[in-house]
Amino acid sequence: MRIAVTVNGERAAADVWEGESLLYALRERFGLPGSKNACEQGECGSCSVLLDGELVCACLVLAAQADGHDVVTVEGLGAGEDLHPVQQAFVDAGAVQCGFCTPGLIVATAALLESKPDPSDYEIREALSGNLCRCTGYTKIFEAVRLAAGR
Ligand code: FES
Ligand code: FES
Repeated sequence: MRIAVTVNGERAAADVWEGESLLYALRERFGLPGSKNACEQGECGSCSVLLDGELVCACLVLAAQADGHDVVTVEGLGAGEDLHPVQQAFVDAGAVQCGFCTPGLIVATAALLESKPDPSDYEIREALSGNLCRCTGYTKIFEAVRLAAGR
């Protein structure tokens, strides 16, 4: 089936099969490998994207469900060379090791700060509880979130 999606502000269309995930379509059809595939079952958050402004795991959304909708990936947060404030905060705080979790954490953090510009520690933990990181121990990630919020 053919789907048409607005991805990072641009109209895009692709032929997908009925059971194909939005994550697969983003990476393999639309050339956007920023969203990562780690578990493919909604457990890790590495595939987090915004679907009509709502945070979702792209591995759990069918590409067909995104037909006619608006998707923002980690690639769409910044503008060219200009990083999104959350992306810059992750760089400045050194909140990246292997980086596999980073795109999902950045999208989830951007979604959090959009709705709660000054979140409490509890709200940060709650908002990022679906994003797993095997490397950092989360301390630097929380520093990055607070840094982005402060800016
Ligand atoms: S790849 Fe989607 S939640 Fe892990
Ligand atoms: S930086 Fe490696 S999984 Fe988070």
